[in-house]
Amino acid sequence: MAAATGADGVLDLDALGDLFTRDPYPVYAWLRERGTVHRVRIPEGTDAWLVLGHEAARAALNDDRFSKSWAHASSDLGLEKLSSGTSMLVSDPPRHTRLRKLVAREFTARRVEAMAPRVQEMTDELLDAMLARADGRADLLDALAFPLPMSVICELLGVPFLDRDSFRGWTEAILTATPATMGRAAAAKESADAYLAALVERRRDEPGDDLFSGLIRTTDEDGDTLSSAELMGMAWLLLVAGHETTVHLIANGVLALLTHPEQLAALRADPSLIDNAVEEMLRFDGPVETPTYRFTLDPVEIDGTVIPGGGALVLPVLADADHDPARFPEPGRFDIRRETRGHVAFGHGIHFCLGAPLARLEARTAIATLLDRAPNLALDTHPDALTWRPGMLIRGPRRLPVRFA
Ligand code: HEM
Repeated sequence: MAAATGADGVLDLDALGDLFTRDPYPVYAWLRERGTVHRVRIPEGTDAWLVLGHEAARAALNDDRFSKSWAHASSDLGLEKLSSGTSMLVSDPPRHTRLRKLVAREFTARRVEAMAPRVQEMTDELLDAMLARADGRADLLDALAFPLPMSVICELLGVPFLDRDSFRGWTEAILTATPATMGRAAAAKESADAYLAALVERRRDEPGDDLFSGLIRTTDEDGDTLSSAELMGMAWLLLVAGHETTVHLIANGVLALLTHPEQLAALRADPSLIDNAVEEMLRFDGPVETPTYRFTLDPVEIDGTVIPGGGALVLPVLADADHDPARFPEPGRFDIRRETRGHVAFGHGIHFCLGAPLARLEARTAIATLLDRAPNLALDTHPDALTWRPGMLIRGPRRLPVRFA
């Protein structure tokens, strides 16, 4: 680590290069062993205060001394907000409470269970197409992990006509933005903004009985209940949060199974283990490495370290919380039967993932059906040859080549 530490004593995570992108867990563990809170330089090009370990990260996620509003971000960070509009994810109460309430009923466990037959149908269609390939090979991201969550969220919102390829390109550019790629990310945000604004107009002109039309009606009938910025923010959040993360739960989960043959065999032998297996996939290699940004208002002391006030960036590290041996013994062991309660892959506190029941349903359906229909499924490359997405927000391989013949 010394080689990556600057004259100011700040560890530059980007200087660790590909090693850190591929496998950040040992780096976080090394830091955790030296203290709960560390100031580091993140690949996104600014300084952040990492909060490590299960107890401290979980507490930080639910600490109302941190704000999620970009209005409180210090200008010294040099960060640009790249998400469209205003959403619950970048709001504090009372606005957060109001925005979350508007859609919470769409995502209850009961509402989501009612979608199970449709999710199964979509999974079957995607697997029909994948398994019909004559060469017996596919990129699991393209064939299943990306299109399934994207189709589900588009159908739920009522935008089946969404230009998915463009959307995938924009969200990827935005979520992996670093100083070197900021121009591309800003252009992607502009395109996404224009596209979403047009989408709102289109739904305004041709309303249906879908979620999106319902949200627009709330605006129109109840005065300014949802402003235009909030409507765009909601569309952006649900579309992005609804697919980016689930893609990598499926991909990272399948990768974990294919690289742990005894666990794969155990799941094949007893498919009723699938629910716990999905929880272990979330804990072992969840798709969200660090959550969206939190900013200090006043100075905050955690375990003897004071994080300055005035909009410092704070990142509770989910990936490390779920690999803390004090909470999960032998955290690097992938074990689909282990006790996974308390993992923070979906966050914690008032911003706890609204889509968790939906993500679980999609992952369970996709992975169980894949194993059932592809008895010879195997990785079609060496795990070390996979390339991983840069940045600290989303964790996952760019492609997942598999063979199934
Ligand atoms: C495996 C899949 C998923 C993971 C790991 C995940 C993870 C997370 C995490 C960690 C947060 C909290 C962020 C923070 O505190 O800064 C969050 C928030 C959120 N997620 Fe998810 N998510 C997933 C899937 C979904 C899906 C499918 C949807 C919607 C359809 C969704 C919608 C949301 C929303 C709306 C929030 C904001 C909640 C709030 O601010 O109150 N997520 N998610």
